[in-house]
Amino acid sequence: MALVPYDENLLPALAKLHQTSAEFHLANHRIRLSQDWNRLGVAAVVWDAAVVLCMFLEMGKVDLKGKRVIELGAGTGLVGIVAALLGANVTITDREPALEFLAANVRDNIPPSQQGAVQVSELTWGENLHLYPTGSFDLILGADIVYLEETFPALLQTLEHLSSETTVVLLSCRIRYERDERFLMELRRSFSVQEVHYDSQRDIHIYRAVKNTKNTEL
Ligand SMILES: C[S@@+](CC[C@H](N)C(=O)[O-])C[C@H]1O[C@@H](n2cnc3c(N)ncnc32)[C@H](O)[C@@H]1O
Repeated sequence: MALVPYDENLLPALAKLHQTSAEFHLANHRIRLSQDWNRLGVAAVVWDAAVVLCMFLEMGKVDLKGKRVIELGAGTGLVGIVAALLGANVTITDREPALEFLAANVRDNIPPSQQGAVQVSELTWGENLHLYPTGSFDLILGADIVYLEETFPALLQTLEHLSSETTVVLLSCRIRYERDERFLMELRRSFSVQEVHYDSQRDIHIYRAVKNTKNTEL
């Protein structure tokens, strides 16, 4: 599974992806994440969308204290780690091959006293969704998970399944291709979607989505 950046100005960004670790100061903590592009590809490097979403969460516009949060396609886990450090109970998920690496990064960056607030588990979009009952989460987070067209139906199905009408979804995206816009159009069929933040330096958009209330009136 490859995510190929085509932008010619991406050389420094590519170099960043090939480093064996990445360090951040977020949520009053130093977070040091291992990266391993050669072994695990896109799931084992930190993408700009994750950094921008963490900075957005740090701004305090979303109340995270005691909230039930799930991160989809977590990769190295940066977003889930920051959400936990900001007080949420977080389930950090990805596909099975990414889990061991993800769990090690989470273990290394969550203080022992907060380890109980974090769980790492498999969630492959569209599969075994009964393990994650509808409405179990107040907030769904995803950074740079809108990128593979063949996964769009399963990702939409997952967002629809997980969301009750009060669940908030925050998707942090770099819009690379027209198909990414098409994903957002599809999302708008069952969710009310607003852009709530744009980082022009990194060209990352954050969208907030809430499931449409079904109008049962005749
Ligand atoms: C571009 S990476 C983003 C990683 C991380 N969120 C970040 O921004 O640094 C996309 C992530 O989506 C995950 N992913 C791709 N297809 C998936 C699927 N069908 N089910 C669950 N996760 C998937 C990948 O394993 C990878 O971790």
